[in-house]
Amino acid sequence: MRVRKVDPANIDPAAIMEAADIITRGGLVAFPTETVYGLGADATNPTAVAGIFNAKGRPGYNPLIVHVADVEGAIRCVTSWPARAKELAERFWPGPLTMVLPKAQGIPDNVTAGLSTVGVRMPNHPVALALIEAAGVPLAAPSANRSMHVSPTLGEHVAASLGAAPDLILDAGPVAVGIESTVLDLSTDIPTVLRPGMISVEDLRAVLGQVEMAKGHAPDGVARPSPGMMDRHYSPNATLMVVDDVEQIAKVAAIQLNERRRVVALARSSIRPDNYTLWAMPESPGEYARLLYGMLHRADAEGYDVIIVEGVPETPAWDGVRDRLIRAARR
Ligand code: TXA
Ligand code: MG
Repeated sequence: MRVRKVDPANIDPAAIMEAADIITRGGLVAFPTETVYGLGADATNPTAVAGIFNAKGRPGYNPLIVHVADVEGAIRCVTSWPARAKELAERFWPGPLTMVLPKAQGIPDNVTAGLSTVGVRMPNHPVALALIEAAGVPLAAPSANRSMHVSPTLGEHVAASLGAAPDLILDAGPVAVGIESTVLDLSTDIPTVLRPGMISVEDLRAVLGQVEMAKGHAPDGVARPSPGMMDRHYSPNATLMVVDDVEQIAKVAAIQLNERRRVVALARSSIRPDNYTLWAMPESPGEYARLLYGMLHRADAEGYDVIIVEGVPETPAWDGVRDRLIRAARR
């Protein structure tokens, strides 16, 4: 495994050529996107795609997102490009929105875990776009971490999680968004958010009108979960607990400290910590998302046993962050 530092403001063409060559030969390249780092392979090569599942320890039923450099590239991956997709691409691409549409023949079945639909996205990162263009193929790319672990927001996180599995890591420093893209199913009558992200359901409604949220664990069994979204996900090694307010932080911390556990709290409100570590979190959802995974990686690296997180507002702007906290807390 090799690591190449790339300055996103002044991209070294040799780095992109080396990466594109690896993709062409069926290898794996970890690359930055604006959301998290991805582990990319040629989305038209089923053997290369199998390498992604293998490297991540990812179950074969969990479909991959296909990354394209422009709308024409997306159109080649799907059987039709409805007006809704066109409008969303004009408004949000390049950006953290994945659209699920009926899959074209050229996309192998293992990319989509056997589904008849495919998720496509044009990332807003110059290194990702340069790589896709140079490779000349769409890139299947999940987040560049072992399955079920926290997604990487730094090049260092990729190496720590995947070891020697990627042939090359393109390290362009910290990402801007920090949590994975919003996944929107456009293959059904009513567009449905399968995975919330920093493009909120309200943002999507402003363009499309009616948009529904899929409830992963709907008791009525009516709403559909996204494949792969039933799992525990995004989890740090430490036990993560989400609590309602700072009083609860103090109570839970006291119990955990009494059990001799090392405790760190992530809080937006001000609080004076008592024998535990406090990391102050930002008030805005965008800033919070950008920092969150880095905090979880750091808590693990520094050997904390317990992460106590002050809950976040129940508003659409926080849906993506709230979803990741709930998943990280699930055991
Ligand atoms: O921001 C992101 O989306 C990052 C970067 C690298 O682009 N990628 C990412 O990929 O998060 P991954 O593999 O960790 O998440 C892919 C998820 C699947 O678990 C599933 O929930 C949804 O996207 N998905 C993909 N294809 C789908 C399909 N055809 N139908 C329904 N859901 C799909
Ligand atoms: Mg992932």
